[in-house]
Amino acid sequence: MRTLTKILLASISVAFLAVKWTAPSFDAESLTGARVLVTGASTGIGEQMAYQYARFGAQIVITARRENVLQQVAEKCLSLGAQKALYIAADMGSKSDPEKVINFALEKLGGLDYLVLNHIGPSPFSMWEGDVEHIRWLMKVNFFSYVQMAWKALDSLEQSKGSLVIVSSLLGKMPSPFVAPYTSTKFALNGFFGALRHELSMKKSNVSISVCTLGLIDTDSAMDKVRGVTNVPAYPAADAALNIIITGATRQPELFYPWFTHIVNLSKDWFPSITSHIIQNSYKYSP
Ligand SMILES: NC(=O)c1ccc[n+]([C@@H]2O[C@H](COP(=O)([O-])OP(=O)(O)OC[C@H]3O[C@@H](n4cnc5c(N)ncnc54)[C@H](OP(=O)(O)O)[C@@H]3O)[C@@H](O)[C@H]2O)c1
Ligand SMILES: *[C@@H]1O[C@H](CO)[C@@H](O)[C@H](O)[C@H]1NC(C)=O
Ligand SMILES: *[C@@H]1O[C@H](CO)[C@@H](O)[C@H](O)[C@H]1NC(C)=O
Repeated sequence: MRTLTKILLASISVAFLAVKWTAPSFDAESLTGARVLVTGASTGIGEQMAYQYARFGAQIVITARRENVLQQVAEKCLSLGAQKALYIAADMGSKSDPEKVINFALEKLGGLDYLVLNHIGPSPFSMWEGDVEHIRWLMKVNFFSYVQMAWKALDSLEQSKGSLVIVSSLLGKMPSPFVAPYTSTKFALNGFFGALRHELSMKKSNVSISVCTLGLIDTDSAMDKVRGVTNVPAYPAADAALNIIITGATRQPELFYPWFTHIVNLSKDWFPSITSHIIQNSYKYSP
């Protein structure tokens, strides 16, 4: 069994490296002047993506709910080298705001090359105690608004041979305790955008879809939840942001960051009971 496991892990690693080596190389200049919309950009990974796009000289629109914070992020983007940095406050739980944001970006930038969907609404880190209304609301913020915005931007992305970048999570591939509402919204994203990718490819569309599977990232909101509860390592938000941007720019269908999330994705189905054991034992819980 031990040897078998080693052989399996070795073959996964070889397959992984083969994928890495054949990945198209990233041309930073391709982002100069690129027209980009980043959602959830007032803080966390979205904020870091705004700064990285700015360093590449992109034209950026950022959005989130807090206008005063967006203004500060936009100013910093300009100081880092963004050709344009505009912001619009919006609540993705509202029915009309998602489309309002796309219309704003199309109007101000004259089209879009990258639509980076990244925002999430706050959700508790605890056992689910029956709050259905919270899940209904979180689905609006974390899922329905993504669908709405992607559809609204699709024509422009077809014209520009652009890219849709979806920031998802390992919890969109593998459920874990204490995050039932959140993991549901991420599974929904993976299902929807996986299906849409097939359809676009069958239609010979010009648009690429990148779904990014992230492990634990050291943003304030994530660290506040897991501090003292788990020893899972957290990776830096700025590095996650750069990897997401490169994945979109090179039009790759998937990103796994950090690298071992790829192995977890595969091993969860190959060794389901070991995986469940590891997951349940990586969190502190006393009933
Ligand atoms: N951090 C991690 O460990 C981790 C792991 C895997 C995947 N991810 C994914 O990475 C992405 C970013 O995560 P993060 O940790 O950077 O999140 P974060 O720091 O909590 O930031 C969330 C962003 O969404 C905005 N937002 C919240 N509610 C909103 C609403 N109703 N309408 C519009 N915007 C709203 C927030 O700004 P306002 O409050 O100003 O609205 C903020 O800009 C998410 O898709 C997340 O699922 C993160
Ligand atoms: C792809 O882009 C070209 C312009 O470069 C356009 O003529 C064509 O209609 C686009 N394809 C689709 C499916 O929209
Ligand atoms: C993730 O795991 C599933 C189930 O093992 C597999 O079908 C899928 O191909 C994996 N994704 C990647 C990109 O390896």
